Amino acid sequence: MLDRKANSISSPPLADRGPGELTEREFEAFRKIVYEHSGICLSTDKKNLVRARVGKRLRATGFKSFGDYLAHVASDSSGRELVNLIDSISTNLTFFFREVKHFDLLRDKVLPAMMARKKNRGERRFRLWSAGCSSGEEPYSLVMTCLPVLEPLSAWDFKVLASDISTKVLNKAKQGVYSRDQVQKMSPLQVGEFFNQRGGQLAVKDNLKSLITFSRINLLEDFPFKGPFDVIFCRNVMIYFDRATQEKLVQRFWKYLTPEGYLFIGHSENLMQLSQRFQYVCPAVYRK
Ligand SMILES: C[S@@+](CC[C@H](N)C(=O)[O-])C[C@H]1O[C@@H](n2cnc3c(N)ncnc32)[C@H](O)[C@@H]1O
Repeated sequence: MLDRKANSISSPPLADRGPGELTEREFEAFRKIVYEHSGICLSTDKKNLVRARVGKRLRATGFKSFGDYLAHVASDSSGRELVNLIDSISTNLTFFFREVKHFDLLRDKVLPAMMARKKNRGERRFRLWSAGCSSGEEPYSLVMTCLPVLEPLSAWDFKVLASDISTKVLNKAKQGVYSRDQVQKMSPLQVGEFFNQRGGQLAVKDNLKSLITFSRINLLEDFPFKGPFDVIFCRNVMIYFDRATQEKLVQRFWKYLTPEGYLFIGHSENLMQLSQRFQYVCPAVYRK
């Protein structure tokens, strides 16, 4: 007869075995679920990270053990708790004008050349995608970079798609409210131009926000649009994926870029091992 207890992932309540204890088996179950649903590869040395981050979620939901929580995730047919689990695991570090050279290149070379080509062809459409946008600093930095170049904006059909798998950070991105510390690297002129004061905080102005569509998109799944995009920023996201997932994603980005479109990746990421189809432009920047 099947030993149901041995095959169950439920474990003694936290109170009975010391708070925060996570068995190897539970850790493996979390690694598997997170990998299958987000592509995020948690290495075997990430047990403390899982214990801390999922532990927070346990406390928020009132589950008494990691096993009970796992069973809940597995039985929740709405998929909502799975989204929350991935939210709790994903690393969302970001900041305005991160890797500033990318924005300089966009402003000084990429955009002017694209504008000239588009003008010649009588095209007005400009599409940018911040894939893995976290709490919004990246897509807002994109709009802040492009607006002064695309003068007058009314001459262009300009839009930015900002997507992430995490609903938590997307909500923050949609609000567009940041602390003074978060904008400290921007000049007072830029802050005045792009933000309104709201209480002690700074809210991105509506004219910028209206150019961005925020959407929950899992980069592992089919994209819910046709594209194509002139520029894709997917920075510091693929670093969490294994090579097979990275390769697949890069091939899909290729398809979703306009001819001569640009792909920007993170500085610790490298496309050369993943695709020979892109042309290297400068560190972490590639052209179709
Ligand atoms: C470290 S942040 C990078 C933010 C920004 N691109 C930057 O470079 O500052 C990585 C983001 O990728 C998102 N992410 C991880 N796996 C994802 C997936 N499968 N689909 C979409 N986004 C994902 C995470 O939620 C997180 O917000």
